[in-house]
Amino acid sequence: MNDTNIADNAATVAEPLPGLSTAGWGAKRRDFLRMLGHGAGAAALSPLLFACGGSNSQTRAQDLRAQLVQDEAFWTEVQKLFVLNPAKTFMNIGTAGSMPKLALDVLDVESRKKAAESGSGYSNLLDLRRQVAPGFGVDAEELAFSANTSSGMCHAILGIPWQAGDVVVTTNHEHGGGDTPLNIARDRYGIEISRIAMPVGNNQTAATYQNLFDERVRTLKTQGKRVRAMMWSSPTYKTGTLLPIAELMEVVKAHQLISIVDGAHLPGMMALDYGALGMDFMSGAGHKWQCGPGSTGILIMRNRIRASNPLPLPNWYPVHTSAYTPRDRNATGAQAFDISASVTQCGSVHTPMFQSLVAACAKWDEIGRKKIETYDLALSAYLKERIVERWGIESLYSPKDDPKLVCGLTCFNPFQNKADIMVSAKSASFVTRMQAEYPQGFVIRNVGFEVIGAAAQHYGVRVSTHLWHDANDIDALVDAMWDLSRKMA
Ligand SMILES: Cc1ncc(COP(=O)(O)O)c(C=O)c1O
Repeated sequence: MNDTNIADNAATVAEPLPGLSTAGWGAKRRDFLRMLGHGAGAAALSPLLFACGGSNSQTRAQDLRAQLVQDEAFWTEVQKLFVLNPAKTFMNIGTAGSMPKLALDVLDVESRKKAAESGSGYSNLLDLRRQVAPGFGVDAEELAFSANTSSGMCHAILGIPWQAGDVVVTTNHEHGGGDTPLNIARDRYGIEISRIAMPVGNNQTAATYQNLFDERVRTLKTQGKRVRAMMWSSPTYKTGTLLPIAELMEVVKAHQLISIVDGAHLPGMMALDYGALGMDFMSGAGHKWQCGPGSTGILIMRNRIRASNPLPLPNWYPVHTSAYTPRDRNATGAQAFDISASVTQCGSVHTPMFQSLVAACAKWDEIGRKKIETYDLALSAYLKERIVERWGIESLYSPKDDPKLVCGLTCFNPFQNKADIMVSAKSASFVTRMQAEYPQGFVIRNVGFEVIGAAAQHYGVRVSTHLWHDANDIDALVDAMWDLSRKMA
């Protein structure tokens, strides 16, 4: 939205709230103001804007809001890259992203070219992998294209020659995408899975998780168990806790373990340097925060001995491939072979999907991955402060104050009667009504998880904030959630 358009539309917009500038506001935000000023929504929502508690949170929220608004013109331009249905506000990127026009165009043009030339897809896509690998801090032979996070987790876990009795230490908040191949390895090879119960909320620090993993590995070793690997999600999809990769890698190295990260949400959200982090495997989605086409994923596979992880490379064999050259994975020579080719190439692939993913990645590189991460984190930090103002800090399942643990996912308990969060149907209804009953059509989700000491699962409400959102989306969301929580009390 440029300034000319704002002036053109100014007459139809309700007066802004005190302290809120409309400069640079897009259509959906002006609609929100209109709703506040007119009609049934005004009576329901206006008083709620002033029902706040907790002055520290208020100050922090104001600061974060100012930070977000400062760069609003830039992000308004970024929002224009997308074709999102303006009748809804899409806040479930953790499940599905949205391809920007430029990625749609590549997919369309390249698919048509392929059809016109009766093209095949027998390739390991090395040229394409070369283009995106630097954005993730690795070399092309360490970055494979997979079908999605789940497929990458299958490649990683089922490619390891497990021995009966090997123990994998993981958490009780994993996604089926990682748990499924782990369960197959349990049933097929006789591995044991040791799950750490995850604490939730804001009382944790990175050291909490580092200690939990370290203590569990030590305890198992004391019992004579052969611990071989750690597998964890960064972030967990349930509470949006970014289990701290650098700290957990210290545990991995101290105990000489294989490291497998379910990083479904990392590509496109967090600007991480995987070479510097040194995990053996990181499986991420191409279709979530990175906004590539469906059926695309990015699997990082350690293929060099770097200072970040001096352990020998783990033995690993491709399980889903048409490109297998037997090599010694433990070779430390400078000339690494292209291990990622074996994951990327399995028969003929639809090359335009990956060309399109590469286009989305190039756009992210151009905007700046760190800039996107900073914006995503500022949006979620603002949302968390606003949740704390209204519902109190104890309502958060996500961490807030340790910068090593936060990400663009926010999970909390919106109910006035706190025990309602254990009623699955009520939580599902909250999600449905947020889309059906508010003009912004908020698309969010709920997710069930175990809470230490709780009688039943909690079905927290999860919100994803990404580059097509702004502070006004968060304000509207919080007001609507507060309104709905009172209606459902
Ligand atoms: C932590 C985590 N792992 C794996 C998956 C599966 O993702 P995909 O559809 O890319 O396989 C998800 C999906 O939401 C997830 O949140």
